[in-house]
Amino acid sequence: MLTRMATILSPLLLLTFAPMLSLACPRGCQCYGDVPSVHCYYLDITTVPSGFPPNTTLLAIRHCNITTLRRGDFSGMPLLATLYLDWNNISTIEPGTFDGLFHLQSLTFGANRVTKLTPGLFKDNKLTDFDASDNRIESIPSGVFTNHSSLTGLILNDNRISMLGADAFAGLPQLVEIQINNNLIPRIPAHALKGAYKLWTLSMPGNAISEIEEGAFSDCASLYNLDLSNNLLTTLEGTLKGLTFSNLNSLTVSGNRILEITNSTLTSLTSLRDCFLDHNRIRKIESGAFRGMGNLNNFYLGNNELEEMPLNELEGVLKLDLTNNRLRTPPLNMSAAPNLAILMLSGNPMKTLAPSQFSGLKSIFDVDLNNVTAVREHTADFRALCDAPTLESVSMNDNNLTSFPYNLLSCAGNATYISVAGNRITQFKNDDFFFLREIAQLNLADNRITDISTLTKALQTTLFMFSLTLTGNPMVFLPEKLYPVASLDLDNMKLCAVDKDAFEWMGKLESINLAKNRLRFIPGKLFANISVEKVNLDDNPWQCDCQMYEYALWMKTSNNSEKFDIVCKGPERLNGTYLSDIPLKNLTCDCVHYQAPAINTTGSDTHVKAGQRARLVCNVAGCPKAAVIWTTPLGEAFSEDSDDPRFTVLPDGGLEIRETKMTDVGMYNCTAINYLGTSQESVGLKVMSSKTAVEQ
Ligand SMILES: *[C@@H]1O[C@H](CO)[C@@H](O)[C@H](O)[C@H]1NC(C)=O
Ligand SMILES: *[C@@H]1O[C@H](CO)[C@@H](O)[C@H](O)[C@H]1NC(C)=O
Ligand SMILES: *[C@@H]1O[C@H](CO)[C@@H](O)[C@H](O)[C@H]1NC(C)=O
Ligand SMILES: *[C@@H]1O[C@H](CO)[C@@H](O)[C@H](O)[C@H]1NC(C)=O
Ligand SMILES: *[C@@H]1O[C@H](CO)[C@@H](O)[C@H](O)[C@H]1NC(C)=O
Ligand SMILES: *[C@@H]1O[C@H](CO)[C@@H](O)[C@H](O)[C@H]1NC(C)=O
Ligand SMILES: *[C@@H]1O[C@H](CO)[C@@H](O)[C@H](O)[C@H]1NC(C)=O
Ligand SMILES: *[C@@H]1O[C@H](CO)[C@@H](O)[C@H](O)[C@H]1NC(C)=O
Ligand SMILES: *[C@@H]1O[C@H](CO)[C@@H](O)[C@H](O)[C@H]1NC(C)=O
Ligand SMILES: *[C@@H]1O[C@H](CO)[C@@H](O)[C@H](O)[C@H]1NC(C)=O
Ligand SMILES: *[C@@H]1O[C@H](CO)[C@@H](O)[C@H](O)[C@H]1NC(C)=O
Ligand SMILES: *[C@@H]1O[C@H](CO)[C@@H](O)[C@H](O)[C@H]1NC(C)=O
Repeated sequence: MLTRMATILSPLLLLTFAPMLSLACPRGCQCYGDVPSVHCYYLDITTVPSGFPPNTTLLAIRHCNITTLRRGDFSGMPLLATLYLDWNNISTIEPGTFDGLFHLQSLTFGANRVTKLTPGLFKDNKLTDFDASDNRIESIPSGVFTNHSSLTGLILNDNRISMLGADAFAGLPQLVEIQINNNLIPRIPAHALKGAYKLWTLSMPGNAISEIEEGAFSDCASLYNLDLSNNLLTTLEGTLKGLTFSNLNSLTVSGNRILEITNSTLTSLTSLRDCFLDHNRIRKIESGAFRGMGNLNNFYLGNNELEEMPLNELEGVLKLDLTNNRLRTPPLNMSAAPNLAILMLSGNPMKTLAPSQFSGLKSIFDVDLNNVTAVREHTADFRALCDAPTLESVSMNDNNLTSFPYNLLSCAGNATYISVAGNRITQFKNDDFFFLREIAQLNLADNRITDISTLTKALQTTLFMFSLTLTGNPMVFLPEKLYPVASLDLDNMKLCAVDKDAFEWMGKLESINLAKNRLRFIPGKLFANISVEKVNLDDNPWQCDCQMYEYALWMKTSNNSEKFDIVCKGPERLNGTYLSDIPLKNLTCDCVHYQAPAINTTGSDTHVKAGQRARLVCNVAGCPKAAVIWTTPLGEAFSEDSDDPRFTVLPDGGLEIRETKMTDVGMYNCTAINYLGTSQESVGLKVMSSKTAVEQ
């Protein structure tokens, strides 16, 4: 007798046992006595085979090529309770196929091509679970499931259902869950769910529902999750009537065309906690709209067309998302929402932020002011964030700011998280963080910072900095002694060199990301004196030559290969090789004289007329080839990979300045770096007014 053990036996062993099974097990299938069950997988058969043990209770025919289910296919198994037919090619189910299967409870035939379910198909069965996802079913007429009193779960996702019969799911008192995601249903008839007293989850996103007949949910007093997202509803008026004072916990109507919320749309959904009404066309919210909804915690109204938003009756709300609306002013009557902790106002054309704007929100924790007119156009009062002592997180991304919003943040003294990503900040002033004494996380991603030194200085006033994100800035060089933090994101930048002492003050780094830069080598001792838990060095043009020798040696001798290994991009013969797999003696350069860089700037332009092009020379001697960085009098830094509209570092190391301005006057520094050393030379440039053209 075979037991369940057989499932882990090899096919060869099964063959040895085959004679014992052949009495009553179809060819190619596995039969097990104790359940008793039959499993037929991956067989090239187009019809259901015969010869099953008559006491079979579980039959699985999966990943075969069955095309038709015929009357009588299962009649030899009167005890059949569970039937899996998923991943076949079934397009036709003959009427009567399941007749006489009085014990059939669970039927699954997902991933087939069935187009039609005929009324009466399951008349003899005691179905509890039915799953026909991913077929081509076109309609659910009354009489397929109607009055099937044992049914608890019904899954019909990813079909082509465009019609629900008037009584499609009526008379299903045990039904707990229906999923009909991604079909073509245009309306829910008034009686379709009649008697669904136990229905807990109704999931119908991704249909074409434009109408829910009044009273459709009136028997669904147990409903806990209702998902109608991505349909064509223009109104919810009357729809939710039956759910007043009910169990409804989560309502999702995202992605419809709802125009307004009146004071009779949502009233008295007393249990509702999560309400998703984002991505609609809501313009108006009538006063009294949220009466009795004291349990509402998370309210999503993003991507609508609201011009104003009173917070009346939202006393329980913790999170309110109003992103991408048309708010001209911040929400009104803020003191009506004493528990609000997260307020998302990004992408609104609010022209003003008043002094102490958020002082009414006694629990406010996080305010998102990304891409907001008042910040973008500097019309916000600089005291807007005053008197909100609980505020810990402020986000002002995408506001076209050219400098750190020092004034606006001067009241956010308790903020631990500040994000000003996606602006045009190039530099910092020494007191930019003076008032931000508690700041621990700072996100400066996607600004225009080319040189980190002014930021390093400005951060000296902070005490608790933990995480710094500089992702996506065009920064070219990491100098020595960066400000110490635990988590440092320096990916997607233009770094072409790192000073050997860049991380000297770090001590302990939990995570450092240097991926997607232009780095060619790592100074040998860069990570030697700090502890790093997570490091990402991917996607740099690493050259595994003499410059990488010291790093490879450290990695090997300190047993750190697992964490710090890199994949070589060059020299060509080593492209794709792990550094740790290369013998140290192979890490060589093609140099006659190994030499630290020496710079000669002879031949640089010393004075130009404004508007003209200037060219500064930086001829670098030394081998291996050094990385070249130029800094400007205004503190910007460029390398060959920078893409500034006016400043270009040429392949020969020179700097070209197009359309010179009077402000370009001053000292330009060329820095050249290879593993043997760094050298720097300065070149002065004068720019004369093109009008007077007089030598100074
Ligand atoms: C089912 O029938 C097979 C023979 O066809 C027998 O070996 C097995 O013991 C039976 N199992 C049960 C649970 O009756
Ligand atoms: C099902 O039929 C197709 C086409 O004839 C064939 O490629 C495939 O291998 C068959 N499946 C199995 C499990 O034999
Ligand atoms: C599935 O059945 C159809 C006919 O209904 C046939 O044309 C098609 O080749 C079959 N596909 C596979 C993979 O067997
Ligand atoms: C379902 O049951 C109700 C009440 O017993 C009956 O009126 C109705 O005709 C039945 N519908 C179907 C399709 O069997
Ligand atoms: C509902 O709104 C209407 C129109 O704005 C108003 O007249 C009515 O008083 C409101 N009802 C309640 C209960 O707030
Ligand atoms: C900012 O919001 C405006 C609408 O107010 C929108 O058109 C624009 O695309 C948004 N910009 C960004 C960067 O998100
Ligand atoms: C910071 O929070 C404390 C209470 O925890 C409060 O007394 C103080 O005023 C707050 N500071 C600011 C700048 O809001
Ligand atoms: C950003 O500000 C500059 C002026 O500083 C302006 O010329 C530009 O149009 C603004 N860009 C956007 C997207 O608002
Ligand atoms: C390195 O190898 C990758 C694929 O393995 C290739 O796409 C790339 O062009 C190679 N780079 C060089 C410099 O040969
Ligand atoms: C190292 O160099 C030797 C010859 O100098 C060569 O045979 C060997 O393949 C190289 N090893 C690697 C991993 O490149
Ligand atoms: C710098 O280069 C110039 C020619 O371009 C040369 O005359 C001069 O001797 C060089 N200076 C040094 C210190 O090598
Ligand atoms: C340029 O070099 C000079 C002299 O070495 C130095 O004083 C100055 O700070 C440097 N400027 C920049 C922007 O690095």
